[in-house]
Amino acid sequence: MPLNNITAMNKILVTGGTGFIGSHTVVELQQKGYEVVIVDDLSNSSIEVLDNITKITGIKPAFEQFDLSDAAKTADFFARNKGIDGIIHFAAFKAVGESMVKPLEYYKNNLGSLLNILEGMKENGVKNLVFSSSCTVYGQPEVLPVTESAPIQQAWSPYGNTKQMCEEILRFATMTLPVKAIALRYFNPIGAHDSALIGELPLGVPGNLVPFITQTAIGIRACLSVFGDDYNTPDGSAVRDYIHVVDLAKAHVIAVERMLGEKGKSNLEIFNLGTGTGSSVLEVIKSFEKVSGEKLNYKIVPRRAGDVEQTWADTQYANDELGWKAERGLDDMMLSAWKWEKALASKKK
Ligand code: WQD
Repeated sequence: MPLNNITAMNKILVTGGTGFIGSHTVVELQQKGYEVVIVDDLSNSSIEVLDNITKITGIKPAFEQFDLSDAAKTADFFARNKGIDGIIHFAAFKAVGESMVKPLEYYKNNLGSLLNILEGMKENGVKNLVFSSSCTVYGQPEVLPVTESAPIQQAWSPYGNTKQMCEEILRFATMTLPVKAIALRYFNPIGAHDSALIGELPLGVPGNLVPFITQTAIGIRACLSVFGDDYNTPDGSAVRDYIHVVDLAKAHVIAVERMLGEKGKSNLEIFNLGTGTGSSVLEVIKSFEKVSGEKLNYKIVPRRAGDVEQTWADTQYANDELGWKAERGLDDMMLSAWKWEKALASKKK
């Protein structure tokens, strides 16, 4: 039975719903009684995620596999799927380093898919969109913690630039079309569902810190390279605001409910989703060693091009307006990531 009249028969499209944050959000939506349909091209995720979501919630989400940057296929999807009450749009390429190598693919995919979704919304009377954005839009903030009114700095990568451009598209689309949007600017999502049935599934060599840590500890990687210990931070390593992926997923459900309940205060709202706490790379390693009991093999190497020195969120606005606050601490995040890595390893045996 749905938990309240908002979820009764409400259907939510989750694009990129077999991905890392998408899959965790589908679980939270289903557990709150929403009907979910996933569209994903499986370019950066695997179909097994559907079964694992089903194992957690007991409900297999409807699923269609196609590329949302294909206008005809997206229009056809909307024509066949009436009654969508809201959309959470995760589907995008998201690797900073890769975007420097394949910039045009990033612009075509990330901008094209958003434009096709907005077209579908316009043509089919879908009014509510939650957009997956990123703290990357701030670059290196001048003032920390960083608030939603911090200046958008010039992007350091095509990936970051596509997020900034998508937000600009939403600024005008929500002024001129009958659509409302909430853009959620994630800080650093890490960790995995407590069931260890879903988690981060990097294809190939992980670009992100935490999967590289757990893959080093499990023996897939020989050694973690810490990109620089000469930053102007307490221990010299770079600082980020790591947030548990389940806390992040819960915020998406709240954002959908804000729009379905007509509680938004403008047609485009923007929220920082972080914990408000910055952690250095070396602190993340320490936390991992503490919760796992493993000694991590790592070495200090020069800084990675494109990295900012330090950033963490001012979460006051999201706390006050969304009534949402991240609950899980760094140790929980690292323990859940480690449990997930061990679950993956046991599946390979
Ligand atoms: C974190 C810290 C690295 C790997 C990216 C995207 C951002 C968001 C989160 C989508 C940095 C250091 C990393 C390694 C290391 N994604 N590091 N050795 O770059 O903060 O953000 O992911 O929304 O948009 O830009 O995340 O995990 O790559 O790096 O020392 O092998 O870990 O230098 O200081 P990042 P990350």
